[in-house]
Amino acid sequence: ASGCKIGLSILNSDLASLGADYLHLDAFCSQHHLLVESLQNQLAQDPFFDMHMMVSRPEQWVKPTAVAGANQYTFHLEATENPAALIKDIRENGMKVGLAIKPGTTVEYLAPWAHQIDMALVMTVEAGFGGQKFMEDMMPKVHWLRTQFPSLDIEVDGGVDPDTIHKCAEAGANVIVSGSVIMSEDPRSVINLLRNVCLE
Ligand code: DX5
Ligand code: ZN
Repeated sequence: ASGCKIGLSILNSDLASLGADYLHLDAFCSQHHLLVESLQNQLAQDPFFDMHMMVSRPEQWVKPTAVAGANQYTFHLEATENPAALIKDIRENGMKVGLAIKPGTTVEYLAPWAHQIDMALVMTVEAGFGGQKFMEDMMPKVHWLRTQFPSLDIEVDGGVDPDTIHKCAEAGANVIVSGSVIMSEDPRSVINLLRNVCLE
């Protein structure tokens, strides 16, 4: 295997760059672009910002998020009535496109958009907060997507730790978000551990 990208979810933390490949920023409110701006000012390097938009009407934050310097805009399929227009708008604002589905949404709803997006996000917890239990029964969705779309980036988010990450990698996920488990112990060594499990 060529390994996985490890994304750090900083929902519960003010620590930013600890050896992860990118930053996964969970956005619930209108102030998230200010966070992107302040992180950029504080960090030595320019990380890749994957914005996970758990907001209603994700259409309204595309422009300010792009202006703030985010690299990827991941929205929930359930939150918009017009995914095509939103995908187009995100691209026109210079960001990559991520499309997320909640645990209750079947993966077939995502399939029609798979050729127009950069990344699919299969949620492995209900959106809301860090530290929840990994939902293993989401793995068939990942596997199905991997079979149908071999070159698509597939992200998993929620409850991923050194014990559950191999299930994600085996199913075909190659972009892994992890939050509380990385922040709970020695972040650098947990990230390395996660990375090594993906390479096995
Ligand atoms: C859940 C968020 C996740 C979460 C990940 O609403 O989208 O990104 O914070 O944190 P852990 O790894 O603790 O589940
Ligand atoms: Zn998230």
